[in-house]
This record gives sequence, C-alpha cells and structure tokens, in this order.
Amino acid sequence: MSKRPWTHRIRRALLATGTTVALAAGVLTGTAATSQAATQGPCDIYASGGTPCVAAHSTTRALYGSYNGALYQVKRASDGTTKDIGLLSTGGYADAAAQDSFCAGTSCVITVIYDQSGNGNNLTQALKGYWSGPAAGGNDNLANAVEAPVTVGGHEAYGVYIAPGTGYRNNNTKGIATGDQPEGMYAVLDGSHYNGGCCFDYGNAETSSTDTGNGHMEAIYFGNSTGWGYGSGKGPWVMADLENGLFSGVNRGLNSGDPSVSNRFQTAIVKGTANLWSIRAGNAQSGGLSTYYSGARPNVSGYNPMHKEGAIILGIGGDNSNSSAGTFYEGVMTSGYPSDATENAVQANITAVGYSSAATGTGSLTPGSRVSLQATTACCTSDYIRHDDADSKVVISPITSASSAVDKADASWIVRAGLADTSCLSFESANNPGQFLRHSNFELYLNTDNGGSSFAQDATFCPTSGHSGQGFSFQSVNYPTKYLRHYNYTVYIAANGGSNSWDSSTSWAADTSWLVDQPWS
Ligand code: AHR
Ligand code: AHR
Repeated sequence: MSKRPWTHRIRRALLATGTTVALAAGVLTGTAATSQAATQGPCDIYASGGTPCVAAHSTTRALYGSYNGALYQVKRASDGTTKDIGLLSTGGYADAAAQDSFCAGTSCVITVIYDQSGNGNNLTQALKGYWSGPAAGGNDNLANAVEAPVTVGGHEAYGVYIAPGTGYRNNNTKGIATGDQPEGMYAVLDGSHYNGGCCFDYGNAETSSTDTGNGHMEAIYFGNSTGWGYGSGKGPWVMADLENGLFSGVNRGLNSGDPSVSNRFQTAIVKGTANLWSIRAGNAQSGGLSTYYSGARPNVSGYNPMHKEGAIILGIGGDNSNSSAGTFYEGVMTSGYPSDATENAVQANITAVGYSSAATGTGSLTPGSRVSLQATTACCTSDYIRHDDADSKVVISPITSASSAVDKADASWIVRAGLADTSCLSFESANNPGQFLRHSNFELYLNTDNGGSSFAQDATFCPTSGHSGQGFSFQSVNYPTKYLRHYNYTVYIAANGGSNSWDSSTSWAADTSWLVDQPWS
C-alpha cells in the first residue's frame, strides 16, 4: 500500500465507520469529529478567507461541503444521449459507477464540467478560435471520459484527460476577474501527463478565443514548453500564461526559482493582483505548498496593469492553441487575491482527501493492470509484443530477465478500458504514457492518443479466448474479422485468410493467440 498522510488514513477509517469529520484547514478536529456536521471543501476555505470561489470545477468531488449537484455530463457514442454524473453524497465524491454503467459497451466523452459556485460558469467544448481544433467546424475535441481513472478518498473517479486537440471553454462568464482585478486559482493535475505544446492551461483568458495582447490572460500553465518562459531543470513547470508568454517569474525566458515539478498529483497555483502575482505548487498527496515566485508583474510591457477578460479555459491557450496535453482533476477561480494561509489550508484539504492512482494489479486484463503479452506460436514463445525505440512500429522480440530495462519497459503495457468501447481494452505503453497500441493500414504502431474517435477505434481491442486454445485473442473493434497477430515478427491486425500477406491462414490461430503475463516492468 502506498504511504498516505496520517490524516488521510484516519479520515478513511472514520469514513468507514460512517462518521463525518471536519477538515477545517485540512486538520482533523480530533474529538470534535463526531459533532461536526459537514466536511469542508476548498471553496468553503476560500470563502472563510474572504476570497470566495467564483468558478469551481471537478469531475472527482464536491468542492463545497454543501454541494449536491452534478459534477459533469457525459455523452455516449452509441445513441448520442447525455447523462449528468453527480455525487455519492452531499459534499462527497463522484458517482463514477453511474458513468461506468451509462458508458458500458460504448464510449463516452465529457460534454460539460459544471460550475459548483452557483455562477453557472460551466466548461463546455471549446469552439474554433484563432486556431482551429480537430473536431467538426474547427472546434476542439471533447475528452474521453474513461481515459484518466483515479482514486479519490478511496472512491473510483475520472479526471479530464486532455489529449492534444482537446479543450474546454466558457466565454460568457459571471463573477470572474476582469482588467486588473485580483483573483486566485488552483488546479490539481496529473504531473506525469504533459507536453511542450501550447498550452495546457486552466484559468482566465480572452472572451474572443483570439490573442488580444499581452496581459489579456491569467491562467495556470503546466508542461515543458520552453517557447516563452521556463524554469530550472528540464520541466515540466508550473507557469502563468499571461498571453504571449508563459511566465516562470519576473523575466521572460528563464527564472531559475521555478523548479521542475512532476508529482503524480500536482497542486498548481497562480494568483494575481495589482502589480503582484505568484506561482505556488505542491504535491497534492502530501506536504505543503512552496512559493516559486511572488512579486512584481513581468518586466516587459503589457502586463502591468493587466487586461484580464474573464473567460475560462481548460486544456488550451487563449487563442485556442490546442496542441498541449495534460489531465485535470479539480480547480477553482476566486474573486480576490487569496492569502498564502488560505491556499495552505486548501492544500491541506487536498492532501487529506487522498488522491491516488486508480487501482492497479499485474498480469490480468483488468483495466489498470500492467501486463506483457507473450506469443504462443512454436517459433516465438520467448517473444513479447513490444514497441521499437527507433521508430513507432510494434514487433515481437525475445525478452528475458537479462534484457535491458528499456527492452523490458518497451514490452510492458497498462491495460485500459477500451478508448472506443469500455467493454473492450486499450493498451497504453508502460514507458510512454499517453501512447497506445493502434493499427494503421492494418499494421500496429505506438502512437499518442490524438483525442479523435478514429484513433480510439484503432486502439480498441476486444479480448476473446485464444484461437489456438491458448490464452487470448484480441479482436479489432473496427475491423471485427481481424485480430492482433504477429507475422514475420511484426504485429498487425489480420484476418484468417485475406488480401494482405499477414492474413495468411498458416499458423493464424497460433499467431493470434497471446498469453497475458506478469509485466516485464
Ligand atoms: O501565452 C502563450 C499563448 O500565446 C497563449 O495561450 C495563446 O493565446 C498565445 O498563442
Ligand atoms: O511472426 C513470426 C512468424 O512469421 C509467424 O508465426 C508466421 O505467421 C510468419 O511466418
């Protein structure tokens, strides 16, 4: 079991006995626990600090102790209907089982992330801005609802998985800071899921979805872009997207006070007021926040005073730049510049809640499990499905305990719920997060999920019992006569007889039968 803060373990134990606990400032109130009515959420803490939430978004939990509405809405591919996903209890955790049953046997996207603040600042599909997205009309993709499984407070939940091309926005908000007005924001993100594309943001942006100039944005950025600013090390960094610049401190370019941070669960904070702004961050599973910058506005023109416009973005840049990647679990925007003490109390609340990676196992076809897939044909029983390092092809090659760590990791896969059909499976690379086994022209490749429905189909395989009587066979969801097969040590989807050389009936049954083994790494 992973090490959790004691507050979390005690809280879990108390919750298991049905006792409600107060987490004022994230500290358990000991003997008072049974007499306290409600658990505080981050927005209760911000309100006590005099800087109330004006937008509150989460797919995993309530952000107010009294919230009992919907967290988000999903839409399923099978019939295009939608369903609101709510809470297990007032102030509690997402009812992920409701999503699981609604999306069973099909795929779902997240269509709305509801605002819990009462201001109606919901996030929905980002529409075409200065830059076009990959969806119809130049709009951005919606997030696949099963792609960021997580455990929060011991409960299954899903985050918002932003593949490149995915984005959410609200250009018509209420209560969000404009001009040089003060505001704060935090987000809990997956610190292991990022890229250098512009711009995985959460926060304040232009209402026109175009770049209207320096200082027209104030958003949390997370990733390893070095195109504008950057911090020490190789990244990723928490920075502020202030428009025409990701800022890591007062200078454009390098500010070495902003370190690389990549906790699995990462708290990221940006706040700004008249000629003062800060970057703060911490491990969302334990410990406090560090301040990486707090001081004057950037020393280049256009950012003092600020010209905030008050739209809200998630997963994109202000002008709908949409090549970034990341995962969002929860976040808020406030009215007023929160004190460090208020934010420290919010961080204590977050760590007490207990985010952890979704339940994992090894060696089985249960989502979350790590596996290696072993060939069964007599030629090749020491061979495993692995991706090449030199290119994106997928082959079989012998892996033994003496193999290099890289070879072992190349032959290890994380089983995921099928991106196009949750009753089937997808295989994510153990050493290249966000990259999946997918076919293209019937040959297998390891590619980054581009968030599109074709990719999801190409990356979804439905397990059946092995055609040879051994192990499993994996049927392509969009070419149901074809199964994962090795042929000449390369991996394809192949039919039993067909136009491609790899459809050869000779040893098809054995070549399409795979053992699901303990992972090599
Ligand atoms: O500030 C970085 C990016 O620059 C913004 O997100 C985008 O609007 C512009 O392209
Ligand atoms: O992939 C190795 C072998 O190549 C397969 O067993 C056979 O179908 C092909 O000749």
